[in-house]
Amino acid sequence: MKFFLDTANIEEIKRINELGLVDGVTTNPTLISKEGRPFEEVIKEICSIVKGPVSAEVIGLNAEEMIKEAREIATWAKNVVVKIPMTEEGLKAVNILSNEGIKTNVTLIFTISQGLMATKAGASFISPFLGRLDDIGSNGVELVRNLRTVLDNYGYETEIIAASVRNIGHLESVAEVGSHIATVPGSLFPKLWSHPLTDSGIEDFLEDWKKYERNMK
Ligand code: G3P
Repeated sequence: MKFFLDTANIEEIKRINELGLVDGVTTNPTLISKEGRPFEEVIKEICSIVKGPVSAEVIGLNAEEMIKEAREIATWAKNVVVKIPMTEEGLKAVNILSNEGIKTNVTLIFTISQGLMATKAGASFISPFLGRLDDIGSNGVELVRNLRTVLDNYGYETEIIAASVRNIGHLESVAEVGSHIATVPGSLFPKLWSHPLTDSGIEDFLEDWKKYERNMK
């Protein structure tokens, strides 16, 4: 499974990229707004740090506006992917943009049908939102499992980005059900490599080593 970082924060991206864990980055208007910097500047900087796909979302709600924004965003970097919301106008935009060779990530997917429509329209990526489905008593992981089955049934090359990933359980479950990608918030990443038994194990080993050194003197 590929790991994307769900953040627009440069420090977080640099820190986790140094570990070789970042295959791409996803942003959205909420994440960009937290940085308090110009949208284009932030996306260009992220694209220069990370080699893989970097999603930047449009704001327009009709196809014409989305296409205009997308064509502009696509000039910012070779690895930029335009994020488009899952609406009828969004599908229209995705159809046109994919024919122009502009990669799209259709976001805010909550059903198999939505995922299938976005795939048929030509999306390179689809983003089901796990946490937000769980919030309303649905099952986000099941959606990812079912979407993977549907894409595989017909040999689609569109990749699933499990988004709105809130905890380690989500991450491990979407890996089990075959999500192509999980996009992980910067705050969750350190929890994926940490464990209290690892920390106490290191402390115990060091303590024993000190005793051993004292005895060897
Ligand atoms: O990847 C989508 C993500 O940014 C939304 O997450 O936790 O606000 O549902 P959340």
